[in-house]
Amino acid sequence: MNRILVVHYSRTGHTDVVARRIAARCHADIERIEERGSREGVIGYLRSAAEAILGLHPPIKRGRHRPGDYDLVIVGTPVWFWSVSSPVRTWLHRHHRSLNKVAVFCTCGGSGHAKVLDDLERLCGHPALARLVLTEQATGQCQQVPAFQRFLLELKRVRSVSDPLPPIQEQAPA
Ligand SMILES: Cc1cc2nc3c(=O)[nH]c(=O)nc-3n(C[C@H](O)[C@H](O)[C@H](O)COP(=O)(O)O)c2cc1C
Repeated sequence: MNRILVVHYSRTGHTDVVARRIAARCHADIERIEERGSREGVIGYLRSAAEAILGLHPPIKRGRHRPGDYDLVIVGTPVWFWSVSSPVRTWLHRHHRSLNKVAVFCTCGGSGHAKVLDDLERLCGHPALARLVLTEQATGQCQQVPAFQRFLLELKRVRSVSDPLPPIQEQAPA
């Protein structure tokens, strides 16, 4: 069984790129939170904005992985109006009791990220072992971003003092 799970929501793909890179480097399983409805276009944007501002919990599909089976769950969200995206809020509301160790990350345009990481930790019910912020422009080349490398190193350091998490690659696969 894999011991690390990366869980994330992504409306337009930026958070998904980062989640996939983290999962590849950590040999982790990955779960992209899915919904039944669409968030495309202006209506989808406005709905997302309203849900974020109001702190709502929209319905999400049942996931394929059980977070309680993992030693470490890495949770990622886009920043929506200085808030956690509402599908991630729903997922954490549903699963926070079964989380063990957590790490958190977000992607954003450039504002509200510190509050969102704080909110993620609060919703997880645990302080995060590592935190990462990437702007949407940086997501495509995230492996070159020092903060991304630091995030992986921090997870690796934690792993070295609390086995048995699997090894984390220092270099991207060729
Ligand atoms: C409804 C909504 C609200 C947003 N609010 C913020 C914000 O407060 N601060 C910010 O820096 N970016 C904000 N953004 C930009 C997203 O955080 C950013 O584009 C993110 O990388 C999108 O991730 P995704 O492609 O995985 O959905 C917002 C985007 C949406 C759709």
